[in-house]
Amino acid sequence: MDIGSSWWLRNRVVCPSLHRFPTAALVFLIAPLVLLFQVAAGGVAAAQTNVAAPVGDPAGGKAVWALGNTACRNCHGPEGEGAFGPVLAGRKLSFERFKDYVRNPAGRMPAYIESELTDQEIADLAAYFNSLPPVQKPGSWRFELTDGAPHAQQLSVTVIGCGQCHGPTLETPRHGAGEVNGDWEWFKHMVYEHTTAQREQWGQLDPAITPATPRPAGPPGRNRMRMGNYSPLRLPEPMLKEIWMWMTDLGPLVPLTGRITAGAAGSAGFTYTVNVANAGVKNTGLAAEDVTITLEVPENAQVLSVTGAGYEGVRHNGESKKGPVAVWRVPRLAPTDQQTFTITLSTVAKNLRGTVRWGKPAVKADNEVTIALTGGGRGGV
Ligand code: HEC
Ligand code: HEC
Repeated sequence: MDIGSSWWLRNRVVCPSLHRFPTAALVFLIAPLVLLFQVAAGGVAAAQTNVAAPVGDPAGGKAVWALGNTACRNCHGPEGEGAFGPVLAGRKLSFERFKDYVRNPAGRMPAYIESELTDQEIADLAAYFNSLPPVQKPGSWRFELTDGAPHAQQLSVTVIGCGQCHGPTLETPRHGAGEVNGDWEWFKHMVYEHTTAQREQWGQLDPAITPATPRPAGPPGRNRMRMGNYSPLRLPEPMLKEIWMWMTDLGPLVPLTGRITAGAAGSAGFTYTVNVANAGVKNTGLAAEDVTITLEVPENAQVLSVTGAGYEGVRHNGESKKGPVAVWRVPRLAPTDQQTFTITLSTVAKNLRGTVRWGKPAVKADNEVTIALTGGGRGGV
């Protein structure tokens, strides 16, 4: 039986960290055996219960994949052409095998339960991939690392694959920690029981404040968790702990969010409103100290007026290489605190953008949030 052995081989060559780190290698050596066992056991169960497999619809599968509510694409490629995870397109995988793997992955993939991806949707996905031609050359990974990257970062990005969704410095997990000042127990719960833990945490956040972690997109009723549940059997606690220690060393991120909106143009110029908030859980999450808000003033624009505490004027001295910036400084933003600033310019600024950053708690990466009239926010998932 083909259990994707060519993929295993290819990936063990591609991933330099595997032969260097015996624990990781061990997990991946055992994994194919576990998979074999599961496929065999699944076959027996199916024969006993005799439940008909749902009939897959390729168009439905294409929609499920494209909506991206499970973010599988980050690992398997936008068209299932393969990336960190193996090729799915044109493989002719049966519904049973597809489902067995999604519900009970034997390797590095998190498990997706029925509430996040139904049997029917799995059947649709299998039908969609089976309608596509075989892939000649698998796609490239979303994020790669240089050889000298720290061990824990390699675990996160190229061995386990958290970083294929979360980027090389795991921003979302770090501001999730900032929302509740989460510790190691919090982190374990969030990774091993993600679909429960994340809903609990979202329930604690103030619904009136724009969240820092992007919520699932898509039409109502499809708002699922995009990250599955990891099993401690496949991702052992010591390995997860190493990832946690590295994240803690980079520093938890205060979940600051910023939004720019344009007011109606009046005779007194063009007014833009900036709303900055700490989206953490009240009395629990991290506070940001020494918060600096900057807005890039277009070269040809005059600042006619501003509002909001802590305005320091327009700086021309290299704060931003893009030109002059208007600057506000706020001593402290505790969870659920919000502050509003306005600026009135002599000309329209269609692409007005800027940054929000903080001084304390000091972090080694990502203490800056981009704000923009269009787009903005944090990178990665
Ligand atoms: C973290 C990256 C990652 C994510 C996210 C992910 N996968 Fe995977 N997937 C893998 C890897 C890696 C494998 C190969 C075995 C392993 O290590 O688990 C795999 C294997 C599979 C297989 C088995 C293929 C075979 O050869 O039998 C299927 C089916 C699959 N994934 C479907 C999905 C679906 C559907 C989703 C989303 C619901 C998903 N995967 C999300 C990484 C991922
Ligand atoms: C399929 C992409 C994907 C992979 C792979 C993934 N995550 Fe996530 N993770 C997400 C998304 C998206 C969220 C936001 C909630 C959701 O939709 O599930 C999230 C949320 C989290 C959170 C909670 C953040 C918060 O706001 O409270 C933590 C912690 C986390 N991930 C850690 C990890 C770790 C550690 C790994 C690897 C072991 C990992 N993730 C792998 C996509 C992923």
